[in-house]
Amino acid sequence: MTDAKTGKTLTLKKKSAAASDSANADRPKRAGARARQVAQLERQREQQRSLQAPAAEAAPMAPPPARQPAAARKRHPGEPAPEPGTRPQPGHLQDADAAHFGARRRHEPSRAEIFPVFTPCPQGLEDALAAEMQALGFEDAEPARAGCRFHTDWTGILRANLYSRLATRVLVEVAHGPARHEDDILDLAMDTPWERWFGAEQTLRVDTSAIRSPMQSLQYCNLRAKDGICDRLREREGARPDIDTVRPDARVHLFLDEDSATLYLDTSGESLFKRGWRLEKGEAPLRENLAAGLLALSGWDPAQALMDPFCGSGTILIEGAWIALGVPPGIWRPFGFERLRGHDARHWRDLKDEARSHIATQLDSPIVGYDLDPAAIDAARANLERAWLTPDSIRFEIGDARSVPPPAETGWLVTNPPYGERLPSEEDTGLWRAWAQNLKQNYSGWNVNIISNDMDLPRALRLKPLRRYPLYNGALDCRLFSFEMVAAGYRDK
Ligand SMILES: C[S@@+](CC[C@H](N)C(=O)[O-])C[C@H]1O[C@@H](n2cnc3c(N)ncnc32)[C@H](O)[C@@H]1O
Repeated sequence: MTDAKTGKTLTLKKKSAAASDSANADRPKRAGARARQVAQLERQREQQRSLQAPAAEAAPMAPPPARQPAAARKRHPGEPAPEPGTRPQPGHLQDADAAHFGARRRHEPSRAEIFPVFTPCPQGLEDALAAEMQALGFEDAEPARAGCRFHTDWTGILRANLYSRLATRVLVEVAHGPARHEDDILDLAMDTPWERWFGAEQTLRVDTSAIRSPMQSLQYCNLRAKDGICDRLREREGARPDIDTVRPDARVHLFLDEDSATLYLDTSGESLFKRGWRLEKGEAPLRENLAAGLLALSGWDPAQALMDPFCGSGTILIEGAWIALGVPPGIWRPFGFERLRGHDARHWRDLKDEARSHIATQLDSPIVGYDLDPAAIDAARANLERAWLTPDSIRFEIGDARSVPPPAETGWLVTNPPYGERLPSEEDTGLWRAWAQNLKQNYSGWNVNIISNDMDLPRALRLKPLRRYPLYNGALDCRLFSFEMVAAGYRDK
């Protein structure tokens, strides 16, 4: 965000935010031009910075693992097996590690190490996330509970952070072992080479989650993990990191199940759904990665028109514009890995430059949002501006879903209307009936996708869904209902 803010003050002239009243106004001509212009300026600034940057910035991003007494520990992912006959002496380990580390810093970094990665996501998006990761080149990506697993090198980890629209975080599995007692967690944390990622110069936060764990207190488990990390670093380096739960440099996640514990290094920092553009929240906004997930599940073709008649603060449509323009979701936000030891700032800049060079300058089809509430439209327009999109890229207008026309002959309507519990039931029924009437009369050829926790919504709309995808919006059990509006004789329920 700092980068984004600086770029913003450097550059742009605002266009008038006034939107056309006509539903058939001209299609946006240079939607991504603003994003691209900012990207170019940012690239120039980064090039200047890199000229001034000290050579140390080019340090290897993932220093090799510190060697430890072979007998005392479990092996960690990606770590080579010890050569037969070699048995490092504990008394010399720290010196040997330091020499090894120093040598690697002076020479070419090894990026060959492969890490097991877990990327959590909102429940219901697992298959879509695995497909996204495969499309990003992570061929062994497969869906897991509330996430997806795959293997990749460190560059792949940076790319997953930069490009994934559906993941909530990118976690690197650094240790896994049996855990039937809290002290097992302490041992596992003590056996893990944290010093390759962070030390006393970083602040630390540990989070713990569990499924069917027999442990009495997750808080105590969390403390054991923290103790293990800090004890190891104090023993190895003479000092331990301070704990900072608000803005830590390094984050570790402990996950417990019936009989085992897994420790993950969080490479994302703040959750990935925080793209950096949202300040204006509106009423019950969707998280950005859930909005991107709805677009993925709906099968929206980014060359086709997109509409949200209950757009609120504009989340679905702004995500849609970024997808259509190829704006990488992480391009303007900071990441946790930037604050870890050995971060290779130059390599990261190169990856971002490459990503920026693919941002398109214009949208092929209209993207249009309506909301009854003028404050929501103000919020959506402010968010559009912060997302580096030109005011004409997405048309946000005050309008009533019950009467607004479609912006093109065919397209995708993807929306998150107010949930039933927010509305008095008579008002609710009236709204659904009138909206369904508008859809049936004016939206033939449209693909309509609605997320709701009201399982009776199709009945209230008197429309039969082609598909219903179970998914969670936070803690709310929802469905994404997909309808195809056909020209005549659409089958009422
Ligand atoms: C759940 S919120 C949408 C939140 C949005 N997805 C976001 O991320 O900000 C529902 C929105 O529907 C709007 N709304 C309610 N009745 C409407 C109507 N008849 N026509 C258009 N918008 C309406 C509300 O003002 C509210 O902003």
